[in-house]
Amino acid sequence: MLPIAQNETISASKGAGALRAGAPRFSPREFRASLAMFATGVTIVTARTATGELVGLTANSFNSVSLSPPLVLWSLAQAAGSMGALAAGSHYAINILAADQKPLAERFASRREDRWTDVAFVDGVTGAPLLAGAAASFECFNRSRYQEGDHVIFVGEVESCSYREGASPLLFHGGRFYTEHPL
Ligand SMILES: Cc1cc2nc3c(=O)[nH]c(=O)nc-3n(C[C@H](O)[C@H](O)[C@H](O)COP(=O)(O)O)c2cc1C
Repeated sequence: MLPIAQNETISASKGAGALRAGAPRFSPREFRASLAMFATGVTIVTARTATGELVGLTANSFNSVSLSPPLVLWSLAQAAGSMGALAAGSHYAINILAADQKPLAERFASRREDRWTDVAFVDGVTGAPLLAGAAASFECFNRSRYQEGDHVIFVGEVESCSYREGASPLLFHGGRFYTEHPL
């Protein structure tokens, strides 16, 4: 295994024999369609701004990073309306949606202004809103952000988490929502 200094950034474009990726051999459509073959769960990332405003958007770029310390990641489009609030805030929550929460996933991915109208939630210990009925939730300290391409990768340090025993997840694949069918 390669020794990795703590916080070292490993980059192929660093050092004397700098390497670069070749030009893409695919169209943007092919790239999107290929990515869409990766089945994911669905989350809504939520936060409350310093002035008390509620922020939230649907995201399926969530993944685990580290067990100790407990770290997770997700990525946000640079152009997203919630970028300012989420990048500046000290905490956010990642709500893993349950199978019956497709309407919420669609609402928090839409352009409607009133995303939070009639949405049931409680304030978590960090102040971030936790959506009622979610399969699980992670309250994260906004530990670090990495600008990559047209997105920003957020790494969150989990301060609190919980899950609903036996909850079925909402799934996303090929641009469509699914509920589970165990094999
Ligand atoms: C299933 C699904 C997953 C999504 N995942 C992400 C994601 O990981 N990152 C992202 O920036 N946008 C993602 N989006 C798109 C955002 O939810 C959408 O652009 C939203 O309107 C952004 O809100 P904002 O502009 O208020 O920040 C996803 C949408 C859907 C339907």
